[in-house]
Amino acid sequence: MARYICAIDQGTTGTTVIILDDRLKVVGQVNEEFEQIFPKPSWVEHDPEAIWNSTRSTIRRAVAQAGIKPEEIAAVGITNQRETTVVWDARTGEAIHNAIVWQDRRTRGRIQQLADDGHEPMVRERTGLILDPYFSGTKIEWILDHVPGARRRAEQGELRFGTIDSFLLWRLTGGKVHASDVSNASRTLLMNLHTGEWDPELLELFRVPESMLPTIVGNAEVLGEVQGIEGLADGTPICGMAGDQQAALFGQVCYSPGEAKCTYGTGAFLLMNTGDTPVMSRHRLLSTAAWKIDQKMTYALEGSAFIAGALVQWLRDGLGFFKTAAEIEELAGQVESSEGVVLIPSLAGLGAPYWNPGARGVLWGLTRGTTRAHIARAALEAIALQNVDLLKAMEQDLGEELKVLRVDGGASANDLLMQMQADFLNREIVRPQMTDTTALGAALLAGLGVGLFSGFDEIRETWREAKRFSPAMSQQRRNQHLELWEEGLKRV
Ligand code: G3P
Repeated sequence: MARYICAIDQGTTGTTVIILDDRLKVVGQVNEEFEQIFPKPSWVEHDPEAIWNSTRSTIRRAVAQAGIKPEEIAAVGITNQRETTVVWDARTGEAIHNAIVWQDRRTRGRIQQLADDGHEPMVRERTGLILDPYFSGTKIEWILDHVPGARRRAEQGELRFGTIDSFLLWRLTGGKVHASDVSNASRTLLMNLHTGEWDPELLELFRVPESMLPTIVGNAEVLGEVQGIEGLADGTPICGMAGDQQAALFGQVCYSPGEAKCTYGTGAFLLMNTGDTPVMSRHRLLSTAAWKIDQKMTYALEGSAFIAGALVQWLRDGLGFFKTAAEIEELAGQVESSEGVVLIPSLAGLGAPYWNPGARGVLWGLTRGTTRAHIARAALEAIALQNVDLLKAMEQDLGEELKVLRVDGGASANDLLMQMQADFLNREIVRPQMTDTTALGAALLAGLGVGLFSGFDEIRETWREAKRFSPAMSQQRRNQHLELWEEGLKRV
């Protein structure tokens, strides 16, 4: 009997596929990185074929590693880097331009123009988002305006747009299904957050022809069937799909309003479940769709910090500080303190709550005695410190204090970082046994969609705490760190 789930996690720097059995035991897991393309400063692209090839290859390898037959897979789930924009030819399925990645800032000028023209209040109220190049709207517009003939072809109905969920669903179904789930669609600047539908006025503002757009669907339902993919049987239902941060919120079983998680991936994304109504932030956080299940919408507040794991990667690849990302813990642990060195990681602009797409990073407070260890420690502190402003804003929006923050993602394995996080936030931090929560969330959604789980209560029971970090820093020390951080921010 089919009882396995295949979860595809298509992230910013790589693709992971996890095969789980119906008791959520991981029986196969494969990751492949792919090329990051930086055509100009602050531009970031991916080759959609590289994304697709890594997806196909990780599926094939993970199923082989699990030692199971394709027919034993009951359901496929997809989760993905959000906002990253692909436009392809409806007939051939070929992309007409590289994918423009969420970190890309090329549409800064257009965003400024929209803000200057006074559109921000309307956009915020309709979408829950901020006017920023982060989201898909101005990326689609850019492709249509810069690829010769693209706008005309789009107007004639020859082109399709999708975020990565939608692109993969199209490819996995052999071009049969063009759909995007509500969590991904809510990141485009084109979806009305209150209705869960594309908004005609927003389509006009961002000059996007409706015929390009996928149908917006729920997160745990049959979305299509696999067609012609090695490692999977034709007809296997794809029945779970969500943007990676919403999938992680689901995987962390944050099903009640007020429950929150932070995922440390390329960036760090703090999301809190706000129940069945969107909370409009008064502190420039995002209001976003978490999921739609059984026709019922759940919303989240989100604080997005664009650089987290990417900072460690930059120290590794850009500055050659160490060979593997995990080594940062040992290097930073060589010193007791960063001795006044502050790193503001705005390498891709500043996200919430500042939203400054032109910001560049700052390394400040250096002395003749500064070593790599101090800089490595300042980098970990920065990853944790940027969440302080976000959590504070979230708590003020909701008018209550968070008790526990659940953490996951690659860098959550770093105990030093997690202790810093507990210290700076002055809150309990809890790390679950399964920290690939993004992929787990996609698997749970797919399992729910195919009926392997009876509902939220059954899934909630499967979550297991692995380690808890309690705040152990004096208020005086915390204040010193926060003051230095504020000083550093002023220098951005
Ligand atoms: O919004 C961007 C986000 O979805 C990317 O996630 O895991 O690549 O940091 P990640």
